Amino acid sequence: MMPTVEFRGETIECESGATLRDVLLEAGETPHNGRAQWVNCRGFGTCGTCAVEIVEGEVGEKNAREEWRLDFPPHDSSDGLRLACQIQVEDDLHVRKHPGFWGQNVDEEEASDD
Ligand code: FES
Repeated sequence: MMPTVEFRGETIECESGATLRDVLLEAGETPHNGRAQWVNCRGFGTCGTCAVEIVEGEVGEKNAREEWRLDFPPHDSSDGLRLACQIQVEDDLHVRKHPGFWGQNVDEEEASDD
């Protein structure tokens, strides 16, 4: 069974082990808000703009780079976000992007598509 990713009302099927950021981009979605769509590190785990909330589903432990980036402003590791470019989809996930250039405004509603 292929895992699915629920994002902005879409349900996307993907290979098990695929990187979440790639899965979203290939489906015509993006984990980046606004300008961060063009100004990002392209998946190296350094810019922090692909941060998302995993609302449902299990993902593996953070690697060292993800840990470092999510501990660095404007992120705060206590926000519980994950970097879409550093995690693999192995379970059915429900993913939410919050507002802000980095998606750091976790207290606000889901980001719009722009
Ligand atoms: S794309 Fe830059 S940290 Fe994920």
